[in-house]
Amino acid sequence: MNGPTPRAVSFAMLKGGFGKSICANTLGGVLGNRGHNVLVADLDPAGHLSTGLGYYTREDEDKADLGDVLLNETDPQQIIKHPGYGFDFVPALNLERVNDDLARDDVFASDMKLKNELVDPLLGNDYDYILFDVPGSRNKLVNNAVVGAPNAILPLMPAPEALNGLRETSKKLVMDIRQAFDFEILATIPNNLSQRIDQRTKDRNLLEAMNTDPTFAAYLEAGRRADWTGSQPELHDGVDVETVLDEHIPPFARITPDQWEQIDNGDLHLKPGIRHSGEFGDAYEERQPLTAYNPENAQLAHFETLADIVENGGIQA
Ligand SMILES: Nc1ncnc2c1ncn2[C@@H]1O[C@H](COP(=O)(O)OP(=O)(O)OP(=O)(O)O)[C@@H](O)[C@H]1O
Ligand SMILES: [Mg+2]
Repeated sequence: MNGPTPRAVSFAMLKGGFGKSICANTLGGVLGNRGHNVLVADLDPAGHLSTGLGYYTREDEDKADLGDVLLNETDPQQIIKHPGYGFDFVPALNLERVNDDLARDDVFASDMKLKNELVDPLLGNDYDYILFDVPGSRNKLVNNAVVGAPNAILPLMPAPEALNGLRETSKKLVMDIRQAFDFEILATIPNNLSQRIDQRTKDRNLLEAMNTDPTFAAYLEAGRRADWTGSQPELHDGVDVETVLDEHIPPFARITPDQWEQIDNGDLHLKPGIRHSGEFGDAYEERQPLTAYNPENAQLAHFETLADIVENGGIQA
């Protein structure tokens, strides 16, 4: 029997606070519970994900860190921890310094380090899936994450700055990286939803933009089937908006024009995911992923869908 197709995934959203870290450890738990070999790595110097799994993130000169693996030929196994939630883990340690050290190196080669020294040796050998949690603003670690893990999942939240976060990510990261690499956005997901969508709420604004706005589709296709020329990107002639959205928005958040009509007529009551759940915070306080804290949490169904998407390498339309 064939094993899964190995895949490295980055949560490469250039905006803090939309749920990169909770998505990384929850998806890691779900993929691990399916029996896959999974590695999750915290590449954010802030180390929220590490803290949430019980690892210290303070600077520690004595321990091997990611910098030793990327720049000093240390065996990656030396920095891998085994928290026991179905995935192995690389905690954030000395990452400010690692980022500075990478920045001193030759520019292009230094963006390949994570791919060459960690992803390529481990992916398909020790691990089926490698997930990178990244910081919310671009640095050398973000560059390394997207080169090493050219499959992105982009979380958004129902906040006025959400679309601006995606705009920045599209213009400054996606467009740029696609000059040199095949960079796939596996999915973009709304997170932390809590309001009704048959009225003018923040949730409605986000879901409507995601599901109807040609510019939103163009953000996702930047550098591929769309180009940035003016202040917003535009899809190439003949590229169908609905098709692009079908390919990038999971079923739990995809709302078609017909469905919007039914919602507005009061005939359809949708509760799209991923929804707000206090248990994400409770799990964090308990230093566990949600999959371990409460395997029955209703939002995990959406992470099962995301796990399917990672396994399949995209949304099966
Ligand atoms: N669906 C949700 N329900 C409840 N709380 C959530 C949900 N998603 C995220 N949060 C909370 O929102 C905050 C931000 O989430 P998270 O840390 O995952 O975002 P991030 O993108 O990694 O942010 P940063 O860039 O600051 O690391 C956290 O306190 C998290 O617990
Ligand atoms: Mg984070």
